[in-house]
Amino acid sequence: MATLLLTGASGLVGSRLLPRLVEAGHTCRALVRSEVALPDGTTGVRGDLADPDALRQAVEGVEAVVHLAALFRTTDEDAVWRANLDGTRNLITAVQTYAPRARFFMASTGNVYDAAAAQPGRETDTCSPTAAYPASKLAAEALLADSGLTWSVVRLPFVYGEGDGHLASMPGLVDRFGLHPAHTYSVAHHRDVATVVGMALAGTFDGRVVNLTDDAPVTVYEMAAFAGQPIDGSSEPLVNPWAGRMDSTVLRGFGFRPAVPTMQAAARDGIL
Ligand SMILES: NC(=O)c1ccc[n+]([C@@H]2O[C@H](COP(=O)([O-])OP(=O)(O)OC[C@H]3O[C@@H](n4cnc5c(N)ncnc54)[C@H](OP(=O)(O)O)[C@@H]3O)[C@@H](O)[C@H]2O)c1
Repeated sequence: MATLLLTGASGLVGSRLLPRLVEAGHTCRALVRSEVALPDGTTGVRGDLADPDALRQAVEGVEAVVHLAALFRTTDEDAVWRANLDGTRNLITAVQTYAPRARFFMASTGNVYDAAAAQPGRETDTCSPTAAYPASKLAAEALLADSGLTWSVVRLPFVYGEGDGHLASMPGLVDRFGLHPAHTYSVAHHRDVATVVGMALAGTFDGRVVNLTDDAPVTVYEMAAFAGQPIDGSSEPLVNPWAGRMDSTVLRGFGFRPAVPTMQAAARDGIL
């Protein structure tokens, strides 16, 4: 078990991951920018990724960093680059300086993959995203890989579950991005994010970028229905049926098996 720092603890993913890290026996610190309710036994360090003093305080003495903090639910592209690339650079510098033996895990995104891909996104694909969010995450991955630290990255798919509101946001995403109802996303439940972070903290895939997915991609149409907010269907052809899809063969080769194999299983078990 490790003394670790979690960034992004107030987010959809971090707020569900932190109790699991505590439950697993880790001694947890959380970098937070505001008053946030944290699980018992967690130490909050108040600060922003832009604040070197807060980062020093946050990383001194840690054995691992779980870096989730990121900005992407905004149209302010400069702010996205500042948080995701500059912020990650600041955190890497703090770890290099004050905790150089710490294992550094970062969450990235399946959005890095090319929308014109000819198969589900694979870690070996050449990615050249243009939008600020995936481009800044890809640049942050490269910084980390070059940092000299012990690192790993997981590219997350659409993460859902435990009433986080992400599925319920789907009709809004359909309107905003003009998504086809048959557009299909690879997905994973919060439980499996915790599983894969546990594998990362054990060093299972040090020095690697790996994709996480469950067993069954889901259409936007079905996701909206799971959220209880049905949308209209369409028989128009999809531009590229592979867009939004990721291949998790590499992670499975490291022994990963999803605890929540499908969204249907999550619905059945009441953990949507
Ligand atoms: N959720 C998904 O489906 C999904 C899919 C693919 C990848 N990911 C990745 O998973 C990670 C977590 O996603 P999420 O859905 O939990 O995001 P989220 O709900 O938007 O939460 C983002 C978190 O980052 C923190 N943060 C943002 N800018 C910061 C800064 N400058 N300094 C310190 N903290 C900052 C936020 O703190 P405040 O509360 O103070 O704003 C919040 O805790 C991200 O790296 C994202 O790229 C998520």
